[in-house]
Formats: sequence, structure tokens, C-alpha cells
Amino acid sequence: MKRLQMFGLLNKDMEILEKELYRSVQGDDPLLTETSLHLLKAGGKRLRPVFVLMGGKFGTYDLDKLKRIAVPLELIHSASLVHDDVIDDADTRRGEPTVKAKWDDKIAMYTGDYIYAKALAITAELPNPRIHQILSKAMVEMTIGEMEQIRDFFNSGQSVRHYLRRIRRKTALLIAISCQLGALAADAELEKAGLLYKYGYNVGMAFQIRDDLLDLRGTEKQIGKPPGSDMRQGNITLPVIYTLEDDRLRGALLDELEQIREGRAGAGRAIDIILSGDGISRAEELASRYIDKALAALDKLPNNRTKGNLRDIAYFVTGRAY
Ligand code: IPE
Ligand code: IPE
Ligand code: MG
Ligand code: MG
Ligand code: MG
Repeated sequence: MKRLQMFGLLNKDMEILEKELYRSVQGDDPLLTETSLHLLKAGGKRLRPVFVLMGGKFGTYDLDKLKRIAVPLELIHSASLVHDDVIDDADTRRGEPTVKAKWDDKIAMYTGDYIYAKALAITAELPNPRIHQILSKAMVEMTIGEMEQIRDFFNSGQSVRHYLRRIRRKTALLIAISCQLGALAADAELEKAGLLYKYGYNVGMAFQIRDDLLDLRGTEKQIGKPPGSDMRQGNITLPVIYTLEDDRLRGALLDELEQIREGRAGAGRAIDIILSGDGISRAEELASRYIDKALAALDKLPNNRTKGNLRDIAYFVTGRAY
């Protein structure tokens, strides 16, 4: 997965952020530096920092201020991924071994803690208490989202609303505040920051729905890990919920889920069942509706080049072209 490289001027600033990102995890402990850099250097789209900088374009753009938001947001995202791979028992991410696979779960837990702490150390340099409140609230929500997911493992009775509430917490909010905090750090009007939040929230919802879709029908090369991981782990995602609503497929899929839960089957047959119905296309439709809402929020913002770039990212997220 490559960094987003489509935004001309922003590339120079993203280069600077990239170096700051590496620097931020150095100098405390050699192993923590090695494990943290292992993930950071494995790539990643750097979507959240890009959103911060773009949010900043709606106010007085000052990279020095914005980087104190952009770097921590990527760090928070990275820390959550290191922990996520422990929880999801994932051996590969971004096509590389995960920290938990290359080292072990204990090292991964502390690596995540360390990266979170380094994020805090950087935001502490910002005086605006509102920014700290927004950040910490989002981190709490992310944790609740992940807890809900654990509670709902293999719960085939969960509703679409349930699922949406979970992904709002675990993914969409961090993307929403990336856009919002960029604007706030650049002293943009609150109304603009609010519209950017709305844009980010809706893009974030579409983004996680797409990620969940890709887990079912992407190739290992495309998603950097074996497909079907969510189901094997018990994470019931939107296409699964939709397929369970289909009377013709419900029984067979429930049987497969039970077998997966008992470790008697892989995800292959369950994926075939899902692909034979309309769960995938219904999930795609819902993702597009979120993208439409994101574009509607964008429409209300003043016309500038960044607005066009944000529109491109919204489409990029729907296509998830790597
Ligand atoms: C992965 O996020 C986790 C989700 C929220 C779906 P990204 O797809 O932004 O991960 P990287 O940083 O580009 O690897
Ligand atoms: C997103 O969920 C992870 C976080 C929000 C921390 P996933 O578990 O689906 O992310 P991937 O697919 O492993 O990147
Ligand atoms: Mg997960
Ligand atoms: Mg995961
Ligand atoms: Mg996923």
C-alpha cells in the first residue's frame, strides 16, 4: 500500500511529516524503536495526516502547528493497528509480518502503548484544550468499538445498526476528527470544521465497509493478508449480516459460521455462500451512500483546490485502489 501521492504541493509537507513520524519513536529504547519503526516503515496510506493537512487548508495553513496534530493522529492509528493485530491474531499487515508475529504479543502490546504515549507527548505541545478533549474522546470511542466487536464475535443475531455503530467508533471517528482538527488547528471557522468532520465521518464509514468487503473478496496480494480473516476470527461484518437476512442462504451460512467457530472449517465455503447472494452488492451500495453524504458535506465548503482533492479521496476510498 502506497502513500497517497496525488496532491502536488502536499507531497513536500508529507515528506516532512514522514521524517517526524520516524523521529517520534526514537531515542527511548532500542527495541521499542525497532518494533515501532517496523510498522511505520512498512508503508500505509497516511490517510489521516493527509486529512489533517487538507483540513488545515480551510484556515491559516501552518505546517508547524498542523504537524503536531497530523503526526499524533498517524501514531494513534499505528498504535491501534499494532494492538489490532494482536486482537485479530493477524500475521501480516501491509504485506509484512506484524509486530506480534515478528516478535510476540507482549512486545506488541507495549509497542502499541509506547506509540500512543509518543502521540500524547506531541499533542501536549498544543495549547488548545478543545483539541485534547476531541482526541481523547475519539480514543475512548475507538476502544469501546473494539470491545463491542469482541462482545459480538460470532453473534449472528446482530443488526446492521449494531454494525454501523461499531465501525463508527472503531474507524469513522478518527478519520472525522483528522479533518476537523486540521481545520481547528488552522483557526478555520467552526462551521467549516463541522462540515469537514461530517465529510470525514462519512468517508470513514465507507472506508471501513470497503475494508470489510475487501476482506471477503480481495486477494491476499491486494489486502496484504489472507482473505476471510474477519470471519475466521468471528468478526461478523456487513455483507455477512446482509446474507443472514436472505432466507435462502441463512441456514447454510449459519452452519458454516458454526464450523468456523469450532475450528472445523476455514472461511472458503462461507465466502462462496456470501458471493452467491446480494450481501456484497448491498454493502457496496451502503458504502456509496456514505460517499454521497461525504460529497454533500463537501459541497457546502468554499470552492478551492483542496475541495477537489477531498472529492478525489472520497472516490479513491470507494475504489480502494492501492
Ligand atoms: C486500516 O486502515 C484499518 C482500518 C481502519 C480499515 P488503513 O487502510 O488506513 O491502513 P494503512 O495505514 O493505509 O495501512
Ligand atoms: C480496523 O479494523 C482496525 C482499527 C480501527 C484499529 P480491522 O481489524 O478490519 O483492520 P485491518 O483489516 O486489520 O486493517
Ligand atoms: Mg480488528
Ligand atoms: Mg485487523
Ligand atoms: Mg479489516
